[in-house]
Parts: sequence; structure tokens; C-alpha cells
Amino acid sequence: MTNITLRSHLTEAALDPNLVYLIEDIASSCRVVANTVRNGAFEDNLGSADAINVQGETQKTLDILANDVFERICANSPRLAALVSEEVEDVTWLKNPKAGDYLLYFDPLDGSSNLDVNLSVGSIFAIMQVQSDGDREVLHKGQRQLCAGYALYGPSTMFVLTLGGQVTGFTCQHGTGDFLLTHPNMKVPTETSEFAINTSRYQYWDASVRRYVDECVQGQAGPRGRAFNMRWTASMVAEIHRILTRGGIFLYPSDSNNQSAGGRLRLMYEANPMAMIIEQAGGAASTGHGPILDLKPTGPHQRVSVILGSRAEVERLVTYYQTSNSAEL
Ligand code: F6P
Repeated sequence: MTNITLRSHLTEAALDPNLVYLIEDIASSCRVVANTVRNGAFEDNLGSADAINVQGETQKTLDILANDVFERICANSPRLAALVSEEVEDVTWLKNPKAGDYLLYFDPLDGSSNLDVNLSVGSIFAIMQVQSDGDREVLHKGQRQLCAGYALYGPSTMFVLTLGGQVTGFTCQHGTGDFLLTHPNMKVPTETSEFAINTSRYQYWDASVRRYVDECVQGQAGPRGRAFNMRWTASMVAEIHRILTRGGIFLYPSDSNNQSAGGRLRLMYEANPMAMIIEQAGGAASTGHGPILDLKPTGPHQRVSVILGSRAEVERLVTYYQTSNSAEL
């Protein structure tokens, strides 16, 4: 049993104290969201935002409640200049930005279609910095993330964080609420025999994604010469956590059905933070045509094609895109 808390981990990293306050505020938000999710059924909060509960009151979804929690708690951080949330159309400015202030990008409750069926959900976040006094630009490349992480609300609540360098996992101790170090230096195994994709979209995939998945499904008799396993939880945080634990590849590619939107998943608070975490853990993260972290965002809610996980598998699919003759998505 470890006694290393999230706070002692952050203190040891010799960070700007204001960044420590912000990460601790995010962790506190995640603790509160974990409880809110756990008690969702009692509060009648599992439904859709415009639903009316049995008392005739308008329900707030857990997504909105989770966003409120992040906004309320993180607003305490003295150097937090702005919030970019999946739940809020516009950027929320908390102060006149000064060079070095922090920008928080977050999805307060990811995978929320899993709530009704009591499966794992999570929160995802990344932090960047304001470049100069008065600069209100938030559309920075993922390479500029100072840190990224997620909370997983599963059988236990976990907080997984990278400050660049290593990926570290903490488990919330039931009773004290402390996040204690349980998963030091998490690594994505290079090779894997497990893939995660929503195969109901096969009809929309381009030739490269079809080729990759077809070859996995052919198992030992196919060109890969070995059996593959498939998982799909419909909760990105849960998929990424599995990949950080035992390897695998996660795909939500751009396809003919979502291409006009750019893909399904959001760049700034889903793909970028997860790409940083996966890369710091030794994996790779690509759109199929280039590193996710190299993308110059066009908007705070931009969607993007996502392929990430075990390096050798991501590189294989990228090669399929490079060698494909067809004009792909
Ligand atoms: O972005 C939200 C999200 O719920 C992800 O967490 C998940 O990977 C994906 O959407 C699930 O998509 P689908 O409904 O196509 O399975």
C-alpha cells in the first residue's frame, strides 16, 4: 500500500505552485463528479437535459452538472485564465489573461451514453499556457500541452496524469477520498493483439481501416498470422485506460458518414489530452495522416480522426493510409 498522494507527487515535480493548485482543483472536481455520478439515480439525473422528472422538475444531465462542478471548483485557481469545455459553446474567460496564466480544456463527463446502463465514464483534461499579456488565443496545437489527464469512474475512481515524461495513475481511496499512487510509470506495450472500434460503422470506413480490421479479424489464417481480440466500451476514457494497462489500439477514424464534421471525437479536450498521455506512455497517436499533436486547431470544438495506442499497430495503419491508392478520407 502506497502513501504517495497526488499532492506529494506534484510537490516533488517542482511545478509552479499555481499549476499544482489547478491540478488539485481538477482532482477535487473529479472526486465530486465521481460522487455525483454514483448518486445519479437517486437525484433523477440520468436522463436527458430536457426531460421532466417524476416530480415534474426539469432535469439537468450529469454532463451539465459535471461541467458546473469543474467551473465552480477550478475558478478558485488564481492563475486560471480560461475554460474550454465540451458543454459550453464559447470560451469562458475568468480574468484578463497574463503571460503564463493557464488555459484548461476539459470534457467534464465523457462517454455519458454509458450512464443509463451503469458502465464506466470519465473526465478528460489538458492544460496549456497563455503566451503573452492580453492574448486570448486558445487554439494551440496539442504539443503545447503542459499536462494532460483523465479520471475514470469505474469500479474504482482513478486519476491518471502526465506532466510530460511519465504517466502516473492514482486510485481514490474509498473513505478518505485521497488519490494514492497505485500505477507508477504506466506504459503502452509496443505490440498488441487487441483492437477497439465501433464495427457497426464498417459500411462507412475507408479502404485502409477496412484492411486493418479485416486482417485482424482473419486471425491466424490471415496475413497477421495470429488471433486478435476486440473490445468496445463506447467510453473513450475506459478504452484508453485499458490500452495503458494491457495494450491495444483505439480507432475512431474519420469515415464517409462523419467526414463533413471532421470525425467524431473532439480535438482539444478528447484527442489531444489522450494523444499526449499515450505518447508519454510509449504509444503513438495519429489521425491516419499525421500526429494528432501537430494539428493546428480551427475551433474549440473541432472534431478529428483518432487512431492511438500501441506504436507498432498505429504505425501499421498509418502505412496502409500512405500506400493506399484510393482517395481516402
Ligand atoms: O465522445 C464521446 C464518446 O462517448 C467517446 O467516449 C466514445 O469513444 C465514443 O463517443 C462512442 O461512440 P459510439 O457511440 O459511436 O460508440
